[in-house]
Amino acid sequence: MNFTGANILSVDQFERTDIETIFTVADSMQPYALRQKVTRVLEGAILGNMFFEPSTRTRVSFGCAFNLLGGEVRETTGFQSSAIAKGESLYDTARVLSGYSDVICMRHPAEGSVAEFAEASRVPVINGGDGANEHPSQALLDLYTIQKELRDRGRSLDGLRIAMIGDLKYGRTVHSLIRLLCLFDKLHVVLVSPEELAMPEMYVEPLRQAGHTVTVSSDLANSIGGVDIVYSTRIQEERFASKEEADIYRGRFRLNQAIYTQYCEPNTVIMHPLPRDSRSDANELDNDLNQNPNLAIFRQADNGLLVRMALFALILDVADQVDHYSRPVTWYHRRGV
Ligand code: NCD
Repeated sequence: MNFTGANILSVDQFERTDIETIFTVADSMQPYALRQKVTRVLEGAILGNMFFEPSTRTRVSFGCAFNLLGGEVRETTGFQSSAIAKGESLYDTARVLSGYSDVICMRHPAEGSVAEFAEASRVPVINGGDGANEHPSQALLDLYTIQKELRDRGRSLDGLRIAMIGDLKYGRTVHSLIRLLCLFDKLHVVLVSPEELAMPEMYVEPLRQAGHTVTVSSDLANSIGGVDIVYSTRIQEERFASKEEADIYRGRFRLNQAIYTQYCEPNTVIMHPLPRDSRSDANELDNDLNQNPNLAIFRQADNGLLVRMALFALILDVADQVDHYSRPVTWYHRRGV
C-alpha cells in the first residue's frame, strides 16, 4: 500500500510487505523511544487526538509517539467536552478539526464511526478503536510483539500457535489480530471463551477457509498446553446491556502462576492488550505472574510507542528523515526494563 496520506482504519488494508515496512520503521524508532536520541522531524505538525471512549495506553502512546517525533498534540476526550454533545455531526466535526491538524487519531463507541469521520476529514485518520469492530494499531503492536518474542525463542509467525482467551465476541483487539494473522501460514488458533462470547463466525471462517487449524473451547486449562502465545482479554463490560450481565462472565478465565506452571509449555508468552481487570472478581492475569519473565504485557505496551511512531512517520512521509533531524539526548534519563 502507499502509506503517504493514508487513513489507517482496518487491518484489511495491509499486505505482508506492508507489515514488514511498518516493523522495519518501528525497529528504527527504538533509540528515540529509549530516550537515547531526540528528533524534530515533525516540528510544527499537529496531531488531533480525539477519544470518545476511555483510554490510557492508546491515547497517551499515540500522543507521546507524535511528541517523540517532534510534533504537538491537541486532545479532545469524552463527548461532554466536544460539540458533539451539542448535536454536531461527525461530518461537521471532521471538516472543522481536520483544518486544525495534520493527522487525527480517533476512538469512538460506534462501529464504523471512524471510517465515517475519515470520509469527511481533510487529513489522514487513524482508527484508535471503533466499538467492537477494529483496533488496527493494537493488532500491529500485538503482531510486532509476537514476532519479537518468538524470535527470541527460535520460532516465527508462520506456524504460530496462539490461544485467544476471554471476551472474543466484543473484543476489538482480537477481531483485528485474528484478521491480521490470516496473512501468515500454518496457524494453530485456539479460541477460549464462554459460548455466549465466542469469536463471531465472520472472523473464524476465513481462517478455516485458508486451511489454518482452529479449535474452539470453553476450558482454559486444557487449551493453553500446546501454544506459543496466550493472549488474554478483558470482559468488555461497556458493550453489555448492564454491568450485571457482564458480571456473569467476569472471572471465568483466570491465569495465575500455578495454572501456568501446570498447563503451559515452558516459555509460553503471556500477552494482554491491557487494561487487565485486576479486581478480585475478575483477576484475569494474576499479579503473581508479574515476576514471570514470559509475561510480555508491559513490553507489548512499550512496543505500542514504536509502532505508532512508525505509522506517523510513514503516513506523513518522513520515515527516511527522522535521523537527519536528530541529536543525542542531553538530560538524565533512567529507564528500567
Ligand atoms: C483495548 C481496547 O480499548 O479495545 N485496550 C487498548 O486499547 N489497549 C482492550 C480493552 O479495553 O479491553
